[in-house]
Amino acid sequence: MSHKIIPVPEFDYFVFGGTGDLARRKLLPALYYRFADGQIPESARIIGCSRTDLDDIGYRQLVEDALKEWIKGNDLDEQLLDGFLSIISYQRIDVSDPNSWKDFERNASPTNPDRITVYYLSVSPSLFLPIIQGLKDNGLHHHARLVVEKPLGFDLKSAQELNGFLLDAFDESRIYRIDHYLGKETVQNLMALRFANSLFEPMWNARYIANVQITVAESIGMGGREEYYDRSGAMRDMMQNHLLQLLCLSAMEPPVSYKPDHIRDEKLKVLRSLQPLVGDDIRLNTVRGQYVENDNDPSYRQEAKNPGSNTESYVAIKASINNWRWSGTPFYLRTGKRLRANMAEISFEFRHAPHSIFTGLDTPIKPNAMVIRLQPDERIDLEVMTKEPGPGGMRLRQSILDATFGGGSNSQTDQGFRMPDAYERLLLDVVRGDQTLFMRGDEVEAAWCWVDSIIEGWALSGEVPETYEIASQGPAGAFELIAKTEHRWRTIQ
Ligand code: BG6
Repeated sequence: MSHKIIPVPEFDYFVFGGTGDLARRKLLPALYYRFADGQIPESARIIGCSRTDLDDIGYRQLVEDALKEWIKGNDLDEQLLDGFLSIISYQRIDVSDPNSWKDFERNASPTNPDRITVYYLSVSPSLFLPIIQGLKDNGLHHHARLVVEKPLGFDLKSAQELNGFLLDAFDESRIYRIDHYLGKETVQNLMALRFANSLFEPMWNARYIANVQITVAESIGMGGREEYYDRSGAMRDMMQNHLLQLLCLSAMEPPVSYKPDHIRDEKLKVLRSLQPLVGDDIRLNTVRGQYVENDNDPSYRQEAKNPGSNTESYVAIKASINNWRWSGTPFYLRTGKRLRANMAEISFEFRHAPHSIFTGLDTPIKPNAMVIRLQPDERIDLEVMTKEPGPGGMRLRQSILDATFGGGSNSQTDQGFRMPDAYERLLLDVVRGDQTLFMRGDEVEAAWCWVDSIIEGWALSGEVPETYEIASQGPAGAFELIAKTEHRWRTIQ
C-alpha cells in the first residue's frame, strides 16, 4: 500500500481549550503524528489558548505529558518530539475580558496576513459566543478559518441561532463543523466503495437491501462528562450527529463530484427525506434506555449524580427514508453507553435469493450482508453462503469475505501503514481548505429538525427510559421494536 504525504502550507493553529481533555487526548497527538510524517512545516505555529496561567515552557510540558500518555508504542520519537515542541506556544486568555483580547492580538496574531490562520474551538459551547465576538471585535476573523466541535446547538432553535452567529463573523466557506466520525478511514472508504465501483450501485436500493443497521455501541460510561451528558443524552450526543451522518453517507445519491458542496447537497437531501416521527409513531419506532447498577458498577443515575434523571443512555430508532431508492428499507439506528462491547458498524443486509435450489439442508441460508466496521477494528466484511469444503454432500455455511484494508487505529499493518486517527485527517483538511468531511449549517439544522420532534414526543408522553443491564445488548424494548418485523439486530460483540 502506498501512501502519500503532501506537506501543507505554513499555518497558525490557535487551539482554544488547548489545556482541555480533547486537546490532550486527540488534537495534539493528531498534530504530532502529522508533524512526524513531515506534513507540517517547521515554520507552522500551534498556539494553545486557555485561561490557565501558563507560559510557553509550562504549556510545552503539558503537551509533552499528553503525548506520552496518548501516543502508543514507539511512535513517540525524542528528536521529533523536540521539533514538534518547538512549534508549540501558549497564549493565556480570558475570553470575556477585552484587555485579555488586546494581549492576545499583540502577542499571537500572525505577522503575515496571508498566512493560514485557524481558530479551533475545543471549548464548552457557552464560550463559542464570547470567543467569536472577541475575534470579531479585534478584527482577527478576517480570512481566518473557524473549527467548531459539537454540540452544535441543543435543538433546532439554538442551532439556528448558533449558525446565525457564526455566519455573522465567518463565511460558510470558512466554517468547519467537525463530526469526527467523518474523518474515520472506513467512513471515507464507504464513499470509495459506493462511488468508485460499479459492482454495488445496481444493488444499492430497497429492491435488494432488506435493511440497514447502524450501531455505535460503547462499553464505557460517560467518561467524566456527566454534567454535559446528563443534559444531552444519547439522542443529542450521538444520534443527531454521528449516526445521522453515517446514515447520510450510506443512503445518499451519487454526488456529481467529490467536491464539498456536491456531497453535502446529497447528504442534506437524505436528511430531508427522513420520515418525520410524530405522535404514535414515536412510541412505535423509538426506544430509550438507561443502565442500572450491578454488583460492581454504578447505575446511570448514580454515575450522573442525578437520582431522578430520565436522560437516555441508549436509543434505538427505526427510521424510514422517503425516496425512490429507499422506500421499503428500514434503517435501524442504535447507540448506547455501557453495552456489551465497543462496536461501531453499518450493515447492509440483502434480501434473500428469490428462489432456493438448496432444500432440505441442515443449515439455513442466511441473507448476504456487507458490514462496514468502524470499531474496534476498521474493516469491511461480505457475508456470503459458500459450500462447506470436503466430502459429505452439498453442505452450506456462512463465510466472511474479508475486505480488510488496514490495521486498527494507530497500528502497523503488514504494509507498514498506520491507520490515522480521524482527527489527523480533519485537522489538516482545515489547513488545506477542504470542507468535504465537515458539516454544513443546513445539514446540522435538518438533523436537529428530525431529532427535535422525537425528543418533544418523548417529553409529552411522560414515559421514562426503560432500564437495561450493564454489558448487555440493550433494553428489551429494542428487541420488541425489531421483532415486529422480519429483521433482527446484529449482536453487539
Ligand atoms: C463523542 C461523544 O462525540 O463520540 C462521546 O460525545 C462518545 O460520548 C464519542 O464516547 C465516541 O467516539 P469514538 O470515536 O470513540 O467512537
